[in-house]
Amino acid sequence: MVRIASIQSTPEPGSPTVQARAQSLTMEGMMLHRPIAAVCAALLVCAGFAQAPAKKGQPNVKKQSYGKMPDGTPVDLYLLTNANGMEAHLAAYGGTLVSLTAPDRHGAFADVVLGMDTLDGCRAQTAYFGALIGRYGNRIGGGQFTLEGKTYHLPINDGPNTLHGGPLGFGKQLWQAREVASAEGPAVEFSYLSKDGEEGFPGTLTTKVVYTLTNKNELKIDYTAVSDKPTVVNLTNHAYFNLKGAGEGDILGHEVTINASRFTPVDSVLIPIGELRAVKGTPFDFTAATAIGARIETDDQQIKFGKGYDHNWVLDKTGAGLTKAAEVYEPKTGRVLEVWTTEPALQFYTGNFLDGTIHGKGGKVYPRRGAFCMETQHYPDSPNHPAFPTTELKPGATYHTTTVYSFSAK
Ligand code: GLA
Repeated sequence: MVRIASIQSTPEPGSPTVQARAQSLTMEGMMLHRPIAAVCAALLVCAGFAQAPAKKGQPNVKKQSYGKMPDGTPVDLYLLTNANGMEAHLAAYGGTLVSLTAPDRHGAFADVVLGMDTLDGCRAQTAYFGALIGRYGNRIGGGQFTLEGKTYHLPINDGPNTLHGGPLGFGKQLWQAREVASAEGPAVEFSYLSKDGEEGFPGTLTTKVVYTLTNKNELKIDYTAVSDKPTVVNLTNHAYFNLKGAGEGDILGHEVTINASRFTPVDSVLIPIGELRAVKGTPFDFTAATAIGARIETDDQQIKFGKGYDHNWVLDKTGAGLTKAAEVYEPKTGRVLEVWTTEPALQFYTGNFLDGTIHGKGGKVYPRRGAFCMETQHYPDSPNHPAFPTTELKPGATYHTTTVYSFSAK
């Protein structure tokens, strides 16, 4: 059943205490009894998430409701607006990026990430739209690893493997949220305390993630974590981008550059085989801008295993700090996304498992390859590959990574 949101009260522009409440309604019920109300609600949803008018002004943060957990706990939705009128909605459930607007070459804003209008819709989908991913992003082979001589068994949720921290990973948890001050732009901090043994991982992990929508049109994500026992950590965000606009067809025409001359080839269940393979001469060579669709159907074993691109690129790092990982250009709208990160790798996933059954924000259909993800991270299955950069976090040390998604147009 399709769920849509109706905005109960319209925010007063400039009002600091906006109480716009999103209430979940079933489309079926609305269609039977109140067809006009249903149409109005759908239009309001579009106004709320999809076609936010570009209003230049004071950067600000507003708190709204995204819905309630089954036990009645309210879930906040933060609306960040930067000085250029760019907007991001962030939900405390999963620390999820629900929407993000960006200007095209004419200055027209569109929502460029996939997501759901309501908390119920968000909880029902299994694609990890915009969620924070932990404790270990990507796959751990066979759902087990050994750390300091002890073997840990994790719940399995992806064939024989553990994916994205397990069935109840960080993207499916309710985070504490608060607005924080930043000179760069509006910002919200999400924190989550993961108990020792949660989803099979050792150590109590205290995680903080700060999202800043900078006045330079960047979404900056800062991740920190500390543990009271040795553990493994690999945090990322699972935003699905479509620079034409969420629900505006496929992403095959987007032109991608990835700053990587090697990738980690995988087996049939997408676990790295341990080799760092040169991309040169393969469909994985994005060292020069290439349309996503140009080679995605190539008769290539790696492409077949991923059902398209769903692989880890080893970034050509020029230093320890923030370096450019990738650039994506969408020719129709002129929108450009640059990805900068302190992480050593990038999982580039082309929405191969989307199948058109999910109706996202505003009821829009999200087709196969209707979005791409650029998940900055350490390599998949690192705990089982001692030669890969380590994902181990020891007590007393602080995990800290930064990723910036920067938007422009040409
Ligand atoms: C990651 C994985 C993909 C897929 C998506 C979620 O990107 O690498 O295989 O599981 O998450 O659908």
